[in-house]
Amino acid sequence: MTACIVGWSHGKFGKLDGETSESLVVKAATEAIAHAGIEPRDIDVIYVGNMNGGFVRQEFHSSLALQAHPDLRFKPSTRVENACATGSAAIHMGLNTLAAGKARFVLVVGVEKMTELNSTQAGEVLIKASYVAEEANIEAGFAGIFGKITSAYFQRYGDKSDALARIAVKAHKNGSKNPYAHFQKEFAYEFCRTPSDKNPFVAGPLKRTDCSPVTDGAAAVVLADVQTALGLKHAIAFRATEHVNDFLPMSKRDIIKFEGPQLAWKRALASAKLDLLDLSFVESHDCFTSAELIEYEAMGLTAPGEGERAILEGWVERDGKLPVNVSGGLKAKGHPVGATGVSMHVMSAMQLSGSAPAGMQLPKAKIGGVFNMGGAAVANYVSILEPLR
Ligand code: COA
Repeated sequence: MTACIVGWSHGKFGKLDGETSESLVVKAATEAIAHAGIEPRDIDVIYVGNMNGGFVRQEFHSSLALQAHPDLRFKPSTRVENACATGSAAIHMGLNTLAAGKARFVLVVGVEKMTELNSTQAGEVLIKASYVAEEANIEAGFAGIFGKITSAYFQRYGDKSDALARIAVKAHKNGSKNPYAHFQKEFAYEFCRTPSDKNPFVAGPLKRTDCSPVTDGAAAVVLADVQTALGLKHAIAFRATEHVNDFLPMSKRDIIKFEGPQLAWKRALASAKLDLLDLSFVESHDCFTSAELIEYEAMGLTAPGEGERAILEGWVERDGKLPVNVSGGLKAKGHPVGATGVSMHVMSAMQLSGSAPAGMQLPKAKIGGVFNMGGAAVANYVSILEPLR
């Protein structure tokens, strides 16, 4: 164990009219520092996770965090970007800074303001996280990339639309218990399973209810070394962290194998000296329901091609043997890309400290896993978290 999350904050995700990425960063930073029980002057280094790429005109975000308090002026602050894994990338930068002995306290803020664009325009920004030379002309933005992956999976293993609809139902059921979630209502299985005017096909076999939404939001954590964390109120330790990047072009990979996520999970569990089922829960990157399905296989919960068992047999429900996305996941909580990785760590820290919202809190949350992914299984981050004491 090298470092801990010692404070956190999470705003409501959704279509946040009237907010800007600046107002979201300032609020998240202020609340996380207060939650850690420290003063703004105690922060040594800041990382701001923000993908942008044209969602808003304000591209340069690092110093926006300084607006949270005058004492943050002149602190080193850097914007970090790694597609949809931007939030975890920023946390990893913070952990590296602590490991290098360059800070006692690091503030990490993840933010994205996406809804100033409509879904089509947002898709044009998101497709820049593909291998543009070969994949940028795929229709329907990033949903088109996962539409292709889903079609390839169905070709190899059969039509899994029932399982995808069940994953959507689970996400929205869990999201209905999470006051921070973009969508806080349950969706019926028949609605998710059946194409309709309200649930049209978006890309390949993926319908609207298979996609994470276009969302605004921010979340923040304060990180500290273990020695420092021992003297603080909240201390959720990183038992293991792994970061694995794979080739960007889908043409250079067997895209339904998710080999990068597989390796990240394998290394993280080995380093933590744990089996997957030692985890009390996993927050996994369900940007599309089919991503979650393949991630069951990548994390080692089922054999390749059998991911549907995890959902159809109830293993990943909140009362199953490995609850996945009790927060509602990206699907229901929303996926403000730069904030997502930070949000996943905050949701896990809440679970592990027993401070998750009523209805979302798991009864026995001892060790949690986070998997955050940038691109189509390209930038892969796993964290294994547990309370320090
Ligand atoms: N899941 C469920 N319902 C959704 C939804 C989603 N992902 N997105 C929108 N809705 C609902 C809206 O709340 C609205 O409901 P209402 O009529 O009851 O008010 C309705 O669908 C229409 O919303 P709208 O925003 O016009 O839908 P859209 O068709 O323009 O966009 C998607 C839907 C799926 C195309 C859009 O959410 C999208 O592009 N998602 C993918 C984002 C992405 O690629 N992220 C990166 C992943 S790596």
